[in-house]
Amino acid sequence: MKILGIETSCDETSIAVLDDKSVLVNLVSSQSIHHQYGGVVPEVASREHMRILENLVTEALVKSGINLTDIDGVAVTRGPGLMGALLVGLSFAKGLAYATGKTLLAVNHVEGHIMANFLDHPELEYPFLCLLVSGGHSQIIMVNDFHDYTILGRSIDDAAGEAFDKAARILNLGYPGGPIVDRLAQTGNPEFVHFPRANIKDNPMNFSFSGLKTALLYLVRQKGGDWAEKHKNDLCASFQEAIVEVLVKNVIETAVRRECRQLVLAGGVAANSRLRTRISEIALQYGISVYFPSLEYCTDNAAMIARTGRELFIRQLFSSSSISAVPNLTLENDF
Ligand code: KG4
Ligand code: ZN
Repeated sequence: MKILGIETSCDETSIAVLDDKSVLVNLVSSQSIHHQYGGVVPEVASREHMRILENLVTEALVKSGINLTDIDGVAVTRGPGLMGALLVGLSFAKGLAYATGKTLLAVNHVEGHIMANFLDHPELEYPFLCLLVSGGHSQIIMVNDFHDYTILGRSIDDAAGEAFDKAARILNLGYPGGPIVDRLAQTGNPEFVHFPRANIKDNPMNFSFSGLKTALLYLVRQKGGDWAEKHKNDLCASFQEAIVEVLVKNVIETAVRRECRQLVLAGGVAANSRLRTRISEIALQYGISVYFPSLEYCTDNAAMIARTGRELFIRQLFSSSSISAVPNLTLENDF
């Protein structure tokens, strides 16, 4: 079975071709145009998707050696994401599916991030506990089965990726902040500043990262820009340590309490080197197996959308051409 995957929910235009469980090609074009604005400008993102989408599909087909006629289904993100950006991908996919008589498979992007793990770990079996950490989400999810999720904990304010991006903005490091903070932190001292670690009383599986960001902001204001510039590696390492420590503590405690032996990371922040190291170290102490996607499948990509589309195809969960884009789609309001 061959699935063409299309992802345009934010600022990455991505096309993938999946042959059964193997990724033949996964092209990701990141829109660097947003860097000058320090964040994603929705209208600009839509226009960029429109500009390159068709060529990227052609390139993906040529590189994979697959003809459109060989494709069984067209999988596309329908949400969550930026409305205009989603509409570009979804409208394109609808047109392509209609013109070629192929099946349309509308994918929940969050489910796509979780399913990315099956690209690298086909042996992974349900149920498992997932720490989903991206620019828009920080959740602890019990993945009972495909389309069957129990959200156990979530961030009550900023998502983990958002916190990384805001810290980078405070430190004038550029966008997206997560990968830059990760890189600078590698030569910084994680004990330079002890940033606050929030404990949420009514649900120990919840997170809060906005106090952490405010603590960094006030510190930089108090000490001044020159000081922050001089100590940016130490500040990145200390900030990253606070986020990673809380993420790892909450998810490991949840796994132990629920006697769950498999832990899975998903989302852009799953690319964080310190998070990958710490979660592996701590999980080992408790005899818990940890899985994370390879780096290219952590951040937004179409391979994870195609992989989810494959599951939809197998279950005959086909979409009609009247399906709409849903910017605030979640795991709870979808299934
Ligand atoms: O999953 P993703 O590509 O998009 C969303 O669905 O949100 O995640 C993007 C987020 C951004 O906030 C980015 O800064 C963060 O993931 N990110 C990282 C790293 N790579 C990407 N955060 C920390 N460390 C990284 N290495
Ligand atoms: Zn994403």
